[in-house]
Formats: sequence, structure tokens, C-alpha cells
Amino acid sequence: MEAQAPKKSVAREYFEAIVLAVILALFFRTFVIEAFKIPSSSMEDNLLIGDHILVNKFDKVYVERRGQLELTEVQFRDNQHLRQIIDRIVVQVGRRVDEISPMVDARLSDGSRVNAIIPPLALDGPAMSIRRFGQNPLTIEDLIKHGSVPPVMMEFLAAAVQARCNVLISGGTGSGKTTLLNCMSRYVPVHERVITIEDAAELQLQQPHVVRLETRPPNIEGAGEVTQRDLVRNALRMRPDRIIIGEVRSAEALDMLQAMNTGHEGSMTTIHANSARDALSRLEVTVSMAGFDIPIRALRQQISSALNLVVQAQRLMGGRRKITSISEITGMEGEQIQMHDLFLYEQTGVDENGQAVGRFVATGIRPRLVTKIEHAGMKLPTDWFARRVIG
Ligand SMILES: Nc1ncnc2c1ncn2[C@@H]1O[C@H](COP(=O)(O)OP(=O)(O)O)[C@@H](O)[C@H]1O
Ligand SMILES: [Mg+2]
Repeated sequence: MEAQAPKKSVAREYFEAIVLAVILALFFRTFVIEAFKIPSSSMEDNLLIGDHILVNKFDKVYVERRGQLELTEVQFRDNQHLRQIIDRIVVQVGRRVDEISPMVDARLSDGSRVNAIIPPLALDGPAMSIRRFGQNPLTIEDLIKHGSVPPVMMEFLAAAVQARCNVLISGGTGSGKTTLLNCMSRYVPVHERVITIEDAAELQLQQPHVVRLETRPPNIEGAGEVTQRDLVRNALRMRPDRIIIGEVRSAEALDMLQAMNTGHEGSMTTIHANSARDALSRLEVTVSMAGFDIPIRALRQQISSALNLVVQAQRLMGGRRKITSISEITGMEGEQIQMHDLFLYEQTGVDENGQAVGRFVATGIRPRLVTKIEHAGMKLPTDWFARRVIG
């Protein structure tokens, strides 16, 4: 009985926090308008709130809208109030934030991710960052409509996925890596068994034959952690056809490469890097930092034989997201991994609204993967790869 009573108020506070953070603006429009005197004209804009809600300070709440961070009129009463809300949110998911552990990263029951950090680490009072997931993931059609990728490039990626090429998607935070991974996964044939591994479940595969796994952070006593590496190793015992890792950050990178090299072809993952070349060095560094003592040449060999394609996603000036390169890895030459670009986005300038402008081009290189794709029974038009500007 006793446990019941506080639970209710926790739920109420949680609700309040979410409203304050504008998460539920969609469903409680009038409430939000009245309670916080948000001009109703800006409610239209609220519908466009992106995946991030960032509370820098009790009176500074930012949301991402149309790819840009914007200050909202939503405010908490004071630091104390914000702190209470944070406490209630993290307690609900079995975590706590106090002087001993002044930062916490937690997943809420709706799948959102919350990070809170309090003084003395946060100098201007408690700060909270909320990341919502998968409200309405963009589809392939959306990406094409937004001009993020021309149809030809998407069709090439589709063929590569169907032909079980191993793909690494690279990009900065918020550049659209996960969105692209989700879209590309749509091309995995329905009869194949896919296991997804993520730190925070975001992927929404449409196939019937999917098992979704998510890591678990340590509990309050610091025990019970399950890492991506643990999950990859477990996944290999689950008879997967393909493994999809949301983002490689640590030791799981090596297991992923090994899986790709040992029959789990058609696996995909993402990595945080600013170019395709950078992605390869990040992968090397990630493996080395995880403490594996593998000679660099052997590691590069492993990478070059595991990966077929590196796809770069980028958030350009002004906020538009584009696929800025698709590169093919062809092997090793001496100590170096050989890679060439098949498609590129060339930015030519910036328009009057501060948006990047440019064009997609095919570099004129016919991918070696064409053979693999043709062996999988698909026929690609030869002019796809002819050097040209793509319409
Ligand atoms: N091509 C795109 N056009 C417009 N918005 C996009 C595009 N790709 C992703 N987004 C949006 O950008 C945000 C970040 O995308 P996400 O795929 O999670 O990035 P990442 O995984 O690189 O951090 C999401 O709100 C997503 O809906
Ligand atoms: Mg992501």
C-alpha cells in the first residue's frame, strides 16, 4: 500500500515534466497553451519539435525544430523545481541523482533517453537533455523527397543490402545515421533472421523475423551491466543471418568485424565520424582503445575484408541532411585500406536562407560490388555509374 501512494505523485510529476518539456504538446495542446501562455501561432511550430529537448537551466529550454535548436518560452519555476522533476524522472526508472552520483543517463519507459547533471558539476544549476526516439521515423520516400539522397543512390544501396554487402554508415551526431540505417534495413529480405543491438532501441525494422536487443546500464550498486559486446556475442549464438548494431562505440566493434568476416554478411552499423576515411580510423581507434592488442596491419586487413561500403551522412550548413558520399572498400595496398568514392555530394555554396546548395555526382567508378550484386541475381543499369551530375 505504502509503495502505491508515492508512485502516483511520481507519475504526476513525470507527467508535469513532460508537459513542461513540451513532449506532450501534441496531445495536450490547449493545456500547454493555457498553462504556459504559449502563443497559439507557435503551436504549429511545436508540432515540428525534433528529437531533442534540452534544458540548459530552469529558464532556458531549447528544442530542435527544423534541424535548428531554438529557445522556447517554456520555463521551470526555479532550480529547485527542475531538480525535483529530474529526481522524479530518474527515480521512476530505478536511478538516482545526488552529490555522490551527480550525473545520470536513463531510459524512460517510452524509450526516450534522459541525461541529467547537477551541481557542482553543472555550474548554473541542474541541466537535463531529453532525446525522444522513433516518433515518426523518416522513410526512404521522405529522404528522397527532402533531397537527402537521389533515387539512383538509394537504389544502389538497396541492391547492396539485398546482395548482403556489409555497410558502415558514418556521420556526426544528428546527421541522420540511424534514420538511414533504419531505411536501408527495409531492403533486408523478409525470410532473413535479423538481430538488432542498440544502446537505446531506436530502430524500427519492418521485417517479421527480427529479434531486438538493448544494453543495460549498471544498477545503483554498479552491478548488472550488459554491454553491446555482450549482446553481440550472445547474438552470434542465436543463429542470425545478419546483425545490425545501432552504433559501434567500443569493444563490440571487433566482434562486429569478426561476425562480418565469418558468414554474417549483410550486417550493418553506424559510427561517429566526419568522413568515410575518418570512419575507418575511428574504427581502428575504437578497437585499440577497447584494449585489444592487434597489430595495425592485421586490424586494417580485418576491416578491409569485413566492410564493403562506407556511407557518409552529413548535416550541412542550414540544417539539411544529406548522404554526402558512398565509398567502396576494395582491399589493402601495403599498410593502407583502399577505398574509392562512387557517389558524392558536392556543395557549391549557400543560398540566401543560409542553406547549403550543391549537387550529387557519380564519380565514374564502376563498383567491384557490381559482380557481387549480379551474382545475387540483380542487374544494374550500366549508366548508373557513368561520370555525371545526378539530376
Ligand atoms: N535526411 C533527413 N532529412 C531530414 N531530417 C532528417 C534526415 N535524416 C534524419 N533526420 C532527422 O534528424 C534527426 C537525427 O537523425 P538520426 O538518424 O537520429 O541521427 P544520428 O543517428 O546520426 O544521430 C532526427 O530527428 C531525424 O528525424
Ligand atoms: Mg543515431
